[in-house]
Formats: sequence, structure tokens, C-alpha cells
Amino acid sequence: MEEQLTLFPIDTEFEVSKERTTSDKIQLVSFRELIYEITDTGYLTHAIVSYPAKFIPQVVRYAINTYTKEDDWIIDPFAGSGTVGVEAYLCKRNAILYDLNLLLNHIMPLKVYRGEERLSKEHLCNLLDSMQNNQTPPFTPAWSNVEYWYAPEILTLLSQYWGFVHNIDQDVYAGIIKAALIKVSKRFSYTEHRTPKLARSKRKLAAIDELLQQNWQEQLNQIVHDHCLKTLTDINNFMMHTRHHQNQVEFQGGVDSSYIEVPRECDTLITSPPYLQAQEYIRSTKLDLFWLGHTEDEVRELSRLEIPYRKADRIIHTETLDKVREKLTRKDLINRLDSYFCHTINALENAMNRLKPNAAACIFVGNPRIDGITVELWRILSEYWTERGFSHEKVYEDRIKTRQLFGVRKNKNPDGMKSEFLLILRKTDA
Ligand SMILES: C[S@@+](CC[C@H](N)C(=O)[O-])C[C@H]1O[C@@H](n2cnc3c(N)ncnc32)[C@H](O)[C@@H]1O
Repeated sequence: MEEQLTLFPIDTEFEVSKERTTSDKIQLVSFRELIYEITDTGYLTHAIVSYPAKFIPQVVRYAINTYTKEDDWIIDPFAGSGTVGVEAYLCKRNAILYDLNLLLNHIMPLKVYRGEERLSKEHLCNLLDSMQNNQTPPFTPAWSNVEYWYAPEILTLLSQYWGFVHNIDQDVYAGIIKAALIKVSKRFSYTEHRTPKLARSKRKLAAIDELLQQNWQEQLNQIVHDHCLKTLTDINNFMMHTRHHQNQVEFQGGVDSSYIEVPRECDTLITSPPYLQAQEYIRSTKLDLFWLGHTEDEVRELSRLEIPYRKADRIIHTETLDKVREKLTRKDLINRLDSYFCHTINALENAMNRLKPNAAACIFVGNPRIDGITVELWRILSEYWTERGFSHEKVYEDRIKTRQLFGVRKNKNPDGMKSEFLLILRKTDA
């Protein structure tokens, strides 16, 4: 996700409002400035697969440096593409990751790969040659709508390549090829590949038509080849950096965190919950999920569980949240707000209940708007947990100049979010 930061002086504290208490002190920061050693948000294995609304690794690294120590267990109930897992392992911490999206199960074995030996470029290139001359049966996604998204000749070639990769040993090399095929399966489809959302556009239809007049097959093969070799290098570099690390990264995709039972006590929570207005992670990645072999039923069930598209089973009350609710007039928006807070808080609570005494919970959120009303997420979460065994330690504000989450959004917040906040809560009960 591209974003441009306006730089602010580090460690500047100011009060948001005179009437409010000292717990409102917000520390303006630039996480990119604070963690200057990370210069590229996609460094090492972070960029193997693109994912909507990813954490920038600098935020995670800052939380790890400040609120954890070596061999600690970090929990992330909204792990997405697993940024917390990668940073934890790089910093000799353990991590336990959950996400509704099944992609996590495909991505993590690559992102935190731990092999004895460097991966072989020669072996990978041999596999790619075999893929291009492959005679194994083609693979067609179990998706009734697949033809809507592809030109017939492109679909035939992709089915041949996916047929090959599903039929070889399911090892790290197969994972590398799948990551590259995910990229071209989107790039060569009728959906706009620059925005996460699945959307057929006139522009893209015209672009594919033009491509079909050219050497499109060579272009596709070249992208697959380059992506595979880059991933192989990234994984080898990751292995070099972590060759003496003995930590564990446990992960479970396809899990509804609102109802998980966490099997162990943890030392810290680091997470970024879904956005209130733009939760389309499953829809955005469904092309990938179908090609990876998941069925229409599985994908439909996951979409149904996505926050906030399901009924709230309890209504959350805090001072700030109740004020927002009172201002809303549309019933559908009140329902969405209630659903969002019910399930987001359920998921966080399942993880936070398993934190050890004195542990920190680091929650990274934006300040979304609903029907033009700003929803101060960090304040609502802080109000909720300060009545339930946590103290409010701090809020960092990372101000962003531009940010595109899911392309152009038709809501009353044309500027998008201006800031993101890292809320730090501290577990006080014994
Ligand atoms: C802001 S994203 C997290 C991105 C992640 N920090 C990263 O760096 O890739 C929020 C995540 O919440 C997940 N999510 C939505 N509803 C969920 C649910 N009911 N249970 C678990 N995860 C859910 C989405 O799939 C999405 O990956």
C-alpha cells in the first residue's frame, strides 16, 4: 500500500482537547523515521504476495522493540499476510497468528521458511521449464464465474500452469511458483490489478484485448520467471538473516477470531483490526483463493464471517461509541457499527484474555468516518478496556498524507484517513 508521510518532529506531545484527561496525550511520530533501519516496506519476504491494508513493517518493529523481549510470544488475531510473524521471527520472538483469510496458510510457509540449505535456482528454473512444456491435466478453479474474468486463451494457459503446480511436490518451490502465478492470474485477468478490489473495467478489457495482439504469452512467462527468482532470492536472504534463530511462528488461516480459543498464554498483542468502512479482504483475494484450490462454498462461508457483515450478538457501549451511535440516523449504518465493534472486540478479547499480567496490547487503527461522523477507534477501544483490567498507556499518531485502501471510495470521507494510531494498553489484573 503506497502512502506518503508528512514528517513531524518525533516525541512531540500535545493534548487533543483541554477537557480531556492526561490519558488523551498523543505522541506524534513517524514510524518510518523512528525505524530508519527498514528502508523498504517490502524488504526480505514481506512482499512475496500483495495484500490489502498491510501493516508497514516499521510499525510492527517499533512495537516489538519497545514492548517485547527475546523469545516472547506475540499474538495477532488479524494477521492478514503475516507481517507480525515475519517481524517477530526476524527479531527472535515467537508468534501465533490467526486470520479469517485462508491465504495466510499459503503465504506463511514461504515468508518464514526455515530450510537447512539455500534454495536452488537451477531446480526452480527446471520446474519452470517443465511447467511450460507440461502435459499434466489442466486445473480449472471450482468457480462458476471464472470465464467472466478471463479471455479464453489466457484461461487455458493459466489452467495449464496451475495444473502443473498442483501436481508437483507441495514444497517451497511449488509455493514460490504459486506466488508468481497468483500475480499473473490477476495481472492477466479482466480485473483491475492495481486495486485490491475485484472489479472488471472497460480500461482493463481494452488492455487485455491489446495484449492479446502482442506476445502476451512471453510477457506472462517473463513475469512468472522474474517473480519466482526474486522470491527465491528473498527467501534465501531471509534464511541467511535468521539462520541462528530457533523461534516458532504458528499460524491458522480460515479462522474466525471472534470465536477462537487461544491455546497458550502470550506476552504481547500486536495487531491491526479490519477497517470499519472497507472490509473486503475475502472478496479482494478470492481470485487467488480459487486458483489455490479453494471452493466456492469455502469462500462464501468466509465472506459471511467477515467483520462487519454479520449480526452483532451483543451491543458494545462506551462513552464515545454511544455518542457516535446517537448521531447516526440510518439503521443499516447503526447495525454495521454494532457488528463491527461486537466482533472486533470479541476477537481482540479472545487474544487479550490470554495475555500475561503486565503484558502490552498494541493495536494499530485508523480514525474512519461513518456517514460523515469520525469514529475515534483508539479512544473507543481504550474506554472499553480500561474498565476491564487494562490501563491506557499511550497513543502514537502516525500521520499519513495520502492513502488508498481500496481504490476510489464513495463515502463522505473523500480525503481518506489522515492519521493512524498505535494504541498501547497494559494488562493490570493479576
Ligand atoms: C487490516 S487487515 C490485517 C493486515 C495485516 N496486519 C497485514 O500486515 O497483512 C485485517 C484482517 O482482518 C481479517 N478479518 C476480518 N474478519 C475477521 C474475522 N472474523 N476473524 C479473523 N480475521 C478477520 C481480514 O481477513 C484481514 O486480513
